[in-house]
Amino acid sequence: MKKILFAFVVIGSIVACAPKLVTPEVTPEPVTEEPAVPAMSEMVSSGKMIFNKDCTKCHEAKVIDNFTTAQWGGILTKMTKMAKLDETQTNQVTQYVAWELEN
Ligand code: HEC
Repeated sequence: MKKILFAFVVIGSIVACAPKLVTPEVTPEPVTEEPAVPAMSEMVSSGKMIFNKDCTKCHEAKVIDNFTTAQWGGILTKMTKMAKLDETQTNQVTQYVAWELEN
């Protein structure tokens, strides 16, 4: 019985003396500022990538804000065909243009 008790005391003191893992205190940066523009949806960011890749093959990237929503309607109908975009890509670019016009 004494031996068992002794064992507990030994083990107990080993555990107690084990060096504590010191984790440095990390204070997270407080996020107080609102982002200037709302985050893009996946659809919009895909559209942006297409815009910068496929819509710059024949001319430089056009400034979206230089045209009105109505103008873009016609431009996109023509240009998405020129760029040979499929339906999904056309939707993505359309969403991106709309997003840019709003922001
Ligand atoms: C196959 C070549 C080609 C591709 C690809 C292309 N464009 Fe164009 N784009 C043209 C030509 C040619 C013009 C007319 C001349 C110019 O303004 O540079 C034009 C003009 C434009 C204009 C100006 C329209 C105006 O009324 O002044 C915009 C905006 C535009 N393109 C956007 C796009 C977008 C967005 C895409 C991608 C979906 C795209 N283009 C892909 C050839 C292309």
